[in-house]
Amino acid sequence: MGRIKIIAGNWKMNKNLSEAVSLTQEIIHSSPENNSLKIIFPPFPFIQSVNEVLKNKKGFFVGAQNCSEHNAGAFTGEVSATMLNSLGCTYVLIGHSERRQYFNETNALCHKKIVQALNNNIKPVYCVGETLQQRKSNTHFEIVKSQITEALSSLNSDQIKQVVIAYEPVWAIGTGETATPQQAQEMHAFIRTCMKDLFDASVSDNCILLYGGSCNASNAKDLFSCEDIDGGLIGGASLKAEDFCKIIASA
Ligand code: PGA
Repeated sequence: MGRIKIIAGNWKMNKNLSEAVSLTQEIIHSSPENNSLKIIFPPFPFIQSVNEVLKNKKGFFVGAQNCSEHNAGAFTGEVSATMLNSLGCTYVLIGHSERRQYFNETNALCHKKIVQALNNNIKPVYCVGETLQQRKSNTHFEIVKSQITEALSSLNSDQIKQVVIAYEPVWAIGTGETATPQQAQEMHAFIRTCMKDLFDASVSDNCILLYGGSCNASNAKDLFSCEDIDGGLIGGASLKAEDFCKIIASA
């Protein structure tokens, strides 16, 4: 892909169908024009309707918040990457900390989901990040390194180019406590080093790295101006068009 700015909104389990459609319309209406790529991750049932609004809008894409590690079959309640592709999804979140925490997703499972996404022409946005306890015990670099190594290291050179990584310290998600630009930049630079060690300098230089965790209209600019930060994965602040558009303007 090469490094471009991405602003992504993760709506999590919020909104109903008509609210989802109007929020998308408001975002389209108020979004500033710039070269950033905008991705909306609505809940599964709204993907198609959100995509109808986004279709043909330059720079806007729809994604899903998760996908199954299986291709098809008797897996009641699951959604496959093939299905997401047929709905027009071009991105999928994999390994969000809430999936890891509440649904016991491991790095090995994330790897399988990433492969499913790639096999279906969907770009994974792979989420990594340490808990507060891990940061306090100074194991945050080690944790993020293992999340990256275990889920990504066996991808081939074509596959890895399709992967976006989102660094989301768990202690910053939904807490209002943002990582400082210095803390975020330090980890992003470390992730690039990991990518260089696992793959090569070109993969590392071109990999798109997003920051997530209480990113909002007031702190986005400082975070996005850091050397190794290519944009943001936005939770709470993506649920209001005005805030999300201000964040887009910071890209
Ligand atoms: P937040 O969520 O912006 O509400 O902290 C970010 C995320 O979970 O992706």
